[in-house]
Amino acid sequence: MKLLNRTLHFLLIAATLSSLLLLLASHSRAQSDITGFWVFRVPTGDGNFRESFFDLKQDGDKVSGKSVQGTREVPFTDGTFHDGKLHFVISFTFGNPPQTRTVTYDGSLEGDKFDFTSQAQGRDPVKGTLEHSRPPARLPLPDLHDVPDNMLARTPPMGWNSWNKFAGKVDDATVRAIADGMVASGMKKAGYIYVNIDDTWEGPRDANGNITSNTKFPDMKALADYVHSKGLKIGIYSSPGPKTCAGYEGSYGHEQQDANTYAAWGFDYLKYDWCSASRIYKDEEEQAVYQKMGDALLKTGRPIVFSLCQYGVNNVWTWGGKVGGNLWRTTGDISDNWRSMERIGFRQFDISPYIKVGHWNDPDMLEIGNGGMTNDEYRTHMSLWSLLAAPLLSGNDVRSMADETKVILTNSEVIAVDQDPDGKPVKLLSAPDSLPTVVSRPLHNGYTAVGLFNRTDQIQTMTVSWSSLGITGRKPSVRDLWAHSDLSASSEGFSAPVPIHGVVLIRVK
Ligand code: GLA
Repeated sequence: MKLLNRTLHFLLIAATLSSLLLLLASHSRAQSDITGFWVFRVPTGDGNFRESFFDLKQDGDKVSGKSVQGTREVPFTDGTFHDGKLHFVISFTFGNPPQTRTVTYDGSLEGDKFDFTSQAQGRDPVKGTLEHSRPPARLPLPDLHDVPDNMLARTPPMGWNSWNKFAGKVDDATVRAIADGMVASGMKKAGYIYVNIDDTWEGPRDANGNITSNTKFPDMKALADYVHSKGLKIGIYSSPGPKTCAGYEGSYGHEQQDANTYAAWGFDYLKYDWCSASRIYKDEEEQAVYQKMGDALLKTGRPIVFSLCQYGVNNVWTWGGKVGGNLWRTTGDISDNWRSMERIGFRQFDISPYIKVGHWNDPDMLEIGNGGMTNDEYRTHMSLWSLLAAPLLSGNDVRSMADETKVILTNSEVIAVDQDPDGKPVKLLSAPDSLPTVVSRPLHNGYTAVGLFNRTDQIQTMTVSWSSLGITGRKPSVRDLWAHSDLSASSEGFSAPVPIHGVVLIRVK
């Protein structure tokens, strides 16, 4: 009896203890609050990690928060965190026309990290870890001043950029082959000089904080030497934020050090892309942020073209030149379709008066030859960008260009409009909402370029009157810059049929 009593007693104590332990365990789990800033790190296969950030807020089993990537913050509400398992879903909207992509995130807590997977609709899952992070501390900004003109880009820069065609797939071998292609295709001869590496070249920083390139780019100096040996120049890309738009290492807190590295490697051009800087700075502070790099580039003593990329926020055309910018993006990203190109290109007229020799509006890189538009549409792209005095940075694979692409990109008479030494703005002659669109641009030596653009879905006969160009008296001479022929015109003006989404580009005097 005594023994039974003792056993019962023991069992009772054991049961109480274990339920107490269980209670403690569940209590401590409920206590493990995941509220805070987290980074999702995914190995990119080039020795680097792509990082995307989440700001999470836990409330019991519920989790809300936002994805903080590049310039965008996208909130979500119905997440859960239960028994160490995290789950949430975010809908991202992008593109034009807008598309939505739903991404599901799932994690399981291992120590102080999650094994984490993202799964976009219709895509393979992406695996990595979700780790505690902290938004970087804010650095002080310099007082504003005017950065001296570097005297570069006296005409809009011409060259090639890797992003539109290659995005994250660009590497050393491709850039070398592109440089060869620039020469072989006649692009170099036509004036396309800069070979610009966009995002995804970046590796980690070394022990001294120097930026390194990732395994896709084993030796940046050797690559720059190679491109230079072809009589071309070479460009690089970074961000004033801690991360670039593709999640690679940015220049935040290393501005002068990075400028020095680019100069030491032999780079001639920097595209500086806002991206994650939006996590730290306000839009109104962009001028000071860009000024910091403008000064840093000048201080290297190497001539480096400075290309601002912040999508036209905060009227960049009013201060881009003051920070030493040679060009500044005026819009979001272009894509290879008519709607995107039309929407961007035909909205640039109002801000054209802000261009000056050495300081240009940049409506984004060319898509000519990438396959998403007709050749008439690509001729419109090329003509419009030239009338806007936009940088001409081809974004196609110049190693294998169709003849028609080559003809469009290397048309010397159209390029001459773009590269006109006077750097005068374009003027809209037709009504602001008219789809048949007529613009003119004064050129050197009393010439005027006129573009007749047909944005409708039917062939249109379009007209420009000499009086609208301020031409009186004698009938002007007219040259068709796509047909490469002189035309006869009436004494009132010029008329021509214009194909669907196409252009007739003339030069008159
Ligand atoms: C932004 C820029 C693009 C390109 C990508 C690279 O979207 O606008 O031109 O540089 O970043 O990540």
